[in-house]
Amino acid sequence: MKERKEELLQAARLARSEAYAPYSNFHVGAAVLGASGRIYSGCNVENASFGLTCCAERNAIFAMVAAGETEIREVLVIGESDEFLPPCGACRQVIAEFAPPAARVHMCDRQGECRTATVAELVPFIFHLKK
Ligand code: THU
Repeated sequence: MKERKEELLQAARLARSEAYAPYSNFHVGAAVLGASGRIYSGCNVENASFGLTCCAERNAIFAMVAAGETEIREVLVIGESDEFLPPCGACRQVIAEFAPPAARVHMCDRQGECRTATVAELVPFIFHLKK
């Protein structure tokens, strides 16, 4: 499967420009590639009640699910720091819900320089609910 990193980066940058982050002032954008080939994006959305904040990655994934897709092929997240931005623990759990262990996650710095890891590397022991 061909990587779509450049398109994901473009979509995540655009989403980052819409981030609602008046409390942290840290703007994040994320983009996910669904199995259909469509790309979904999201930004972080903060709240005066801080715990209600939702990260860019989860907003992108929830947009994918709302569009009828439940399989992630590739993820990219871009923040505003000089260091690459790894997804938080909550987002890793949500990524792992929809992505196979070999899916690639690109973690980028403000300039768009990225480090890449697989979902299995980011979440080595993942909780799945077996019914
Ligand atoms: N944030 C994300 O959107 N994704 C991450 O991977 C890390 C953190 C957001 C949440 C909050 O709005 C701000 O960055 C500071 O933590």
